[in-house]
Amino acid sequence: MNLIIEQDYRAMSLKAAKIVADSINAAKPTPEHPFVLGCPTGGTPMGMYAELVKMCHRGEVSFRNVVTFNMDEYCDLPREHPESYWSFMHEHFFDHIDILPENVNILDGNAPDPAAECRRFEEKIASYGGVDLFMGGVGPDGHIAFNEPGSSLTGRTHMESLTQDTIIANSRFFDGDTNQVPRRALTVGVGTIMDSRNVMLLVSGHGKARALRHGVEEPVCQMWTISALQLHPSAIIVADEDACDELRLSTYRYFKQKNA
Ligand code: GLP
Repeated sequence: MNLIIEQDYRAMSLKAAKIVADSINAAKPTPEHPFVLGCPTGGTPMGMYAELVKMCHRGEVSFRNVVTFNMDEYCDLPREHPESYWSFMHEHFFDHIDILPENVNILDGNAPDPAAECRRFEEKIASYGGVDLFMGGVGPDGHIAFNEPGSSLTGRTHMESLTQDTIIANSRFFDGDTNQVPRRALTVGVGTIMDSRNVMLLVSGHGKARALRHGVEEPVCQMWTISALQLHPSAIIVADEDACDELRLSTYRYFKQKNA
């Protein structure tokens, strides 16, 4: 696992956007062989998406031959609800780039048969030969996608019950009212993320410092699902300085020098 440490949120977002654009451009995707990109939601990736939109407008990257799979979606929230991940992705990214609507894949959190919806999603990823780059964020409790503490580290796409920590953290998007936060979500599994050829997580702010420490320095453990990335052959975490607050100085220096 590599850890790239940037000065602040803006620098982290620029770096992440550049990694995404470079990956897409290097693959020279075509309609027959599209680039498959896994997408997160949340406050953390918003700066990266804004930068990718600008790069797309400047002609530095195109999403015409990119197929996306979102990591997760709330259950029991209408698709058009402003806080659904479907709405988030269209508002912050898809509506502003040249992606083809048929190349966007987002789990249907209201599917009548959630297990079948999860199977369909996995099969569709497989039909493209897997994900080239799965991007992600992390919850304060170390969860990736909605793989809450205690989730299987080899799990596939499934329904998850949100922990109280996550309900409280995500209530900021629901007028601070925990009662409005959905209790369940569909999410790719840790195994789904681990199967992708490249993984890039963004970690920003002091509130994520403990999660970053568990991801980088502590043992692989299902209680901190971010730690599974230690077993991935090509995982990158792009973090800002504040997120490094709980790393050992030697760890911090090692990664700073490695990426200098
Ligand atoms: C939610 C999402 C995660 C995301 C996390 C952190 O729980 N399911 O995928 O990483 O929030 O979000 P933020 O970046 O807003 O802190």
